[in-house]
Amino acid sequence: MTERSSDPGAKIVTRGPLRKKPIGPAHFETGLERSIGLWQLTAIGLGAIIGAGIFALAGTVAKNDAGPAVTISFVIAGIASACAAFSYAEFGGMIPRSGSAYTYGYATLGEAVGWFIGWDLLLEYTAIVAVVAIGVSQYVGYLFTSFGVDLPAWMLGAPGTGPGHRIDLFAVILCIGVAALLNRGIKSGARTEFWLVFIKIAIVLAVIIVGAFYIKPSNLTPYFPYGFGGAVTGAATVFFAVFGYDAMSTAAEESKSAERNLPKAVMLSLAIAMVLYLLAATVLTGIQKYTDLSDSAAFAFAFEAVGQPVFAKVVAVGAIIGIFTVLFSFTLGASRVWFAMSRDGLLPRWFSHTNAKRSPDRPVWIVGIVAAGIGGFVPIGSAAELTNIGILLAFVVVSVSVIVLRYRRPEVPRTFRLPFMPVTPILGIIFSIWLVTKLQPITWLRFVIWFIIGALIYIFYSYRHSRLAHGEVVDEEPPTPRS
Ligand code: ALA
Repeated sequence: MTERSSDPGAKIVTRGPLRKKPIGPAHFETGLERSIGLWQLTAIGLGAIIGAGIFALAGTVAKNDAGPAVTISFVIAGIASACAAFSYAEFGGMIPRSGSAYTYGYATLGEAVGWFIGWDLLLEYTAIVAVVAIGVSQYVGYLFTSFGVDLPAWMLGAPGTGPGHRIDLFAVILCIGVAALLNRGIKSGARTEFWLVFIKIAIVLAVIIVGAFYIKPSNLTPYFPYGFGGAVTGAATVFFAVFGYDAMSTAAEESKSAERNLPKAVMLSLAIAMVLYLLAATVLTGIQKYTDLSDSAAFAFAFEAVGQPVFAKVVAVGAIIGIFTVLFSFTLGASRVWFAMSRDGLLPRWFSHTNAKRSPDRPVWIVGIVAAGIGGFVPIGSAAELTNIGILLAFVVVSVSVIVLRYRRPEVPRTFRLPFMPVTPILGIIFSIWLVTKLQPITWLRFVIWFIIGALIYIFYSYRHSRLAHGEVVDEEPPTPRS
């Protein structure tokens, strides 16, 4: 069966699990409000990129893996991520739709691949929300302690993470609170996000400017105390810091002129983040010897160590705000993937309901509640392991898809074309697979279990309910279910 679509360039849409979503046209009606411009989109990108990676991981990587060469770790991770970012930018300009890698995979490699990437992103984004909430919670705890307020132990962490710990209450409150904010509508959410990102960047700049006066060149030698291999090991960890633009692309349907703005916003947000990372990492390792850095809240402790306790608290508050915006972005990203899969008929239509503020409220609440469950009761390390594998596999699929589409559908209009095709995406693929091989077997096992559950849902539900399977064009919004 060849299904008709509104895509004039569509040649063949095969049947079965290889059936593909049409690409374009770029302008179409959705149930989501188009309210986000270039700078708000870039702010959503920065909100998702700059967070726990720099504030929570840079210090421990410098101390344990790379020394002052943690800056080189950021450079390596940044180059790898940029390869994938180019692919996301090309796709963003071509298919500016809700759903990110899910939508890209569906349109190029077929429904089964699209499904698995969507399923992968649901787990990964929700786990990131949980990890980040735990990270914020730890900084909040640090601030209370530094002001001399002793909180009861039962609310300070997941069971087993410390004496008397029963639940990470701050993490739970944060996950639910962010879901409530998003359901007030994308407009107010994005506006709030814009100001939070503004504050975050101001804090990072303040760290760089104030810190510059305390840099001692002797702290930066030896530069490679663990050898170049240490910097590479560090890159695998700080890779966490350099993704996030993929969550932004899931907000594409709410962006004005998405096909022009999205590629720009992807590259812009990663470039701004990289400049800030390199300067901030140099300051961190320049003001305190890498061996003396704290494993947690490293920036705050480093400023305390150079006799700036007040500024250290300001930095801690800034870190909380900075990491908080990551929470916002990934809750948004996860709910949009859910929305896109439901709109395509791969998950029940019940999930694509939008509320009076035109927010897909049901997926938002589900992501908030599940993330709260993980964040409240699972140690940060266990939750964090799940995120890396998901993002790396999504990177592989997007990089493969961009190559496939360039050769199979060269006529589709592209507002952005990634440079050095196919070298750039191939580098992205190699780097991602290399990093996947560094992950622990237990992470693979958890991931395989998640995939088996997904495969069963696909076979027994999604395959039959897919709107493409019924010859429906998936460009326009399906009727919103009544509440
Ligand atoms: N890049 C995001 C962070 O560093 C996930 O928190």
